[in-house]
Amino acid sequence: MKITIIGSGYVGLTTGACFAEVGHEVMCVDNNEEKIKTLLAGDIPIYEPGLEELVVKNVASGRLKFTTNTGEGVSHGEVVFIAVPTPPQPDGSVDLRFIEKVAREIADVIEDYKVIVDKSTVPVKTGEKVAETISRYKPNVEFDVVSNPEFLREGCAVDDLLKPDRIVIGANSDRAMAVMQRVYEPFVAPVLATDINSAELIKHAANSFLALKISYINAVSVICEASGADVEQVAEGIGMDKRIGRHFLNAGLGYGGSCFPKDLKAFIAISEELGQPFNLLKEVETINADQLDRFIKKIRESLWVLDDKKIAVWGLAFKQNTDDLRESVAIRLIEQLVAEGANVVAYDPKAGENMRRTELGEKITVVDDPISATEQAEALIIATEWPEFQTVDFAKVKENLIAPLIFDGRNLLDPKSMKSHGFSYHGIGRGRS
Ligand code: UDX
Repeated sequence: MKITIIGSGYVGLTTGACFAEVGHEVMCVDNNEEKIKTLLAGDIPIYEPGLEELVVKNVASGRLKFTTNTGEGVSHGEVVFIAVPTPPQPDGSVDLRFIEKVAREIADVIEDYKVIVDKSTVPVKTGEKVAETISRYKPNVEFDVVSNPEFLREGCAVDDLLKPDRIVIGANSDRAMAVMQRVYEPFVAPVLATDINSAELIKHAANSFLALKISYINAVSVICEASGADVEQVAEGIGMDKRIGRHFLNAGLGYGGSCFPKDLKAFIAISEELGQPFNLLKEVETINADQLDRFIKKIRESLWVLDDKKIAVWGLAFKQNTDDLRESVAIRLIEQLVAEGANVVAYDPKAGENMRRTELGEKITVVDDPISATEQAEALIIATEWPEFQTVDFAKVKENLIAPLIFDGRNLLDPKSMKSHGFSYHGIGRGRS
């Protein structure tokens, strides 16, 4: 099928490359000329495992094309996906100006029946507004608007797209639903057909539920610390119940990234707009913020004053397998340490370069290996759940540190083994530290 993707960012590019991979003829549009040039040269502006190979292969086969011309893009596809940014506004609600602009641009050039698909994460009822906008600017043309939310995790987006748990298609017409079934025919995954509003809600409700699960186990971790229980054992025990499941029950510094914080705020904002405030989600946010405050308090309890102390931090990205620093809890942690006068030496397997380019990055030292970060440091903090931190030479780390103090914000290390190495180990919710 001929498919157009408007917006070649993280979601648009990955979706476009995977559609091309399964045999569709895809044209990706972006108004950033530099980005399109980079992509045409076979370079990928983001780090995402497996994506570069897919793009290079499908550009070579001619199934994946790029353009900066929206008109050309819209004419190409019988299905036009909108995958432009939906950033948060200061009050937490979603800024829909890019979606609205694309709707107008589509109206400008649409001549015959097309299915317009909202891929970007948007609040419920956005699809209705996109349809109204296109009709207002081009009254006599046939089209349908569909909601088809993405559930990609950074770091495994290609896999999530090629082998999804489910494909949600929200459409209000059989004609549009039939077109979408053809788009997803090459994928082996259950398809859930819904109305548009329900599909939009599924995305916000799913991400909010996952964030809630994380905050739930983090709240439990506080009780574990107060009572001398181990949150890892508790998570294991409750996760074995199939109705609950073990995923997203890892206690730690809390969730970050470009999705959860933003989607929660958006869901809270739209629920308020609808006159039905979703207060439970406000508590989820509070628990998430408190996790970091509690962790820093724990560090202060050991080191007392942080001013002028060298502190090693492993992990900058908002989670493992990505170089993305957006809304990373590690960054918020470092901001606080720096504000209190600490000299932070940080290491991250992928995000070091991005960190160096930030304002905060200039205030700290970013090194290229985990061991050298610990030289003459007063403590080691683990802020991101990179599995490779588990296999570092801890005898060497112990030799390097001034005092053998580890604060494990992701419960990545085994407390017993750390104790046998001679460390004073402080995890999250792992008994009284
Ligand atoms: C998320 C959703 O998983 C995905 O379906 C959606 O489309 C986009 O948002 P992503 O932002 O890539 O994906 O991150 P995810 O892997 O879900 O992790 C989010 C955050 O939660 C990370 O900061 C991670 O460290 C944290 N987390 C995750 C925990 O603290 N504990 C857990 O048990 C799981």
